[in-house]
Amino acid sequence: MEITNFKDMYLAELQELASVEAQLADALLRMAGAASNPALKRVLIHHRAETETQRDRLATILETHGASPTAHTDQAMQTLITEAKKMLTILTEDNLRDAGLIASAQKLEHYEIAAYGTAAALAGQLDLRDEQKMLHLSLEEEKRIDALLTQLAKREVNPEAVAA
Ligand SMILES: [Fe+2]
Repeated sequence: MEITNFKDMYLAELQELASVEAQLADALLRMAGAASNPALKRVLIHHRAETETQRDRLATILETHGASPTAHTDQAMQTLITEAKKMLTILTEDNLRDAGLIASAQKLEHYEIAAYGTAAALAGQLDLRDEQKMLHLSLEEEKRIDALLTQLAKREVNPEAVAA
């Protein structure tokens, strides 16, 4: 399929993001299941709920434009999740596994932060202010989780993993 205008490019980016969120919802559940640190487990479960809200936001926007939220599969996310799984199988000690989980989760979050930043900018360029606001909301949630994971790694998980 060829894309010949800016708006269709924007919608294609949103379709990629919808695939990112759908994949992440599954991955976060598995990651929360593998986490030992209770605070880390809580953060991952909390973000899974946010992820479902974010997926709904994208579906709402796409449906407004008559575009399907399941039209694309984001292959970059598939690969990032494969890498996260691989890491989990290698790390057999609880504290180390938690540190590895945070490292993987932050790579996933950074990918989303990049994607939402772009999507919100494209919405702004198209003067779709309500959509831009919704995308910003998701962007802020991703940034918040990223900061929480950094805090958790520095204060608790990494020091324990080093001592393990
Ligand atoms: Fe997300």
